[in-house]
Amino acid sequence: MTAIDYSELSVAKAQEYNRELIAAGRCTVLQGDVSSLQLPEGSFDLATAFETVYFWPGLEACFAQVFRVLKPGGFFMICNESDGTDAASLKFEKIIDGMKNYTAEQIEDALRKAGFSEISCHHHASKPWITVIAKKRQGGVDCEAESQGIRRHAVRLAQMDQRAHGNQRL
Ligand SMILES: C[S@@+](CC[C@H](N)C(=O)[O-])C[C@H]1O[C@@H](n2cnc3c(N)ncnc32)[C@H](O)[C@@H]1O
Repeated sequence: MTAIDYSELSVAKAQEYNRELIAAGRCTVLQGDVSSLQLPEGSFDLATAFETVYFWPGLEACFAQVFRVLKPGGFFMICNESDGTDAASLKFEKIIDGMKNYTAEQIEDALRKAGFSEISCHHHASKPWITVIAKKRQGGVDCEAESQGIRRHAVRLAQMDQRAHGNQRL
């Protein structure tokens, strides 16, 4: 697993939290900007973005970077605790310079323009939380069972993250 954040502090915190996985050679935490990913093309099965696309400098260009580093058949999952319309998150937009909340439709549109397909949007039943999952389609015929397996894994990751963070994020 490879994690990326452009903040020195976030990288240090993530390295500390994941120190056992890093020591076991199962995790790497890098400092870098998603708008210019220094990672090899076509190298990841799954990319996730939790609570971060609000700050990315241009969704479509950053999504294109993620598209490039995914393997054909790979998935990209975005989890936001804002559906782009809730009052609490819009308040933060006014306070935090450069922050922008997006609706699932705006995210879907940028994903399509970046090359993704098979996009599905999920809304939390009672909170303004959204998950958007998209696929980098492979040239040939997709393996349906494998696709469903990676999609289920992505949804489990989102559920684990919700349990870990509760309501305490924003
Ligand atoms: C609200 S925090 C979420 C952190 C983490 N993903 C989580 O779920 O706990 C947003 C993070 O996005 C990072 N970030 C914002 N813009 C970025 C960019 N262009 N490239 C890489 N990281 C970025 C910030 O440094 C910050 O650590």
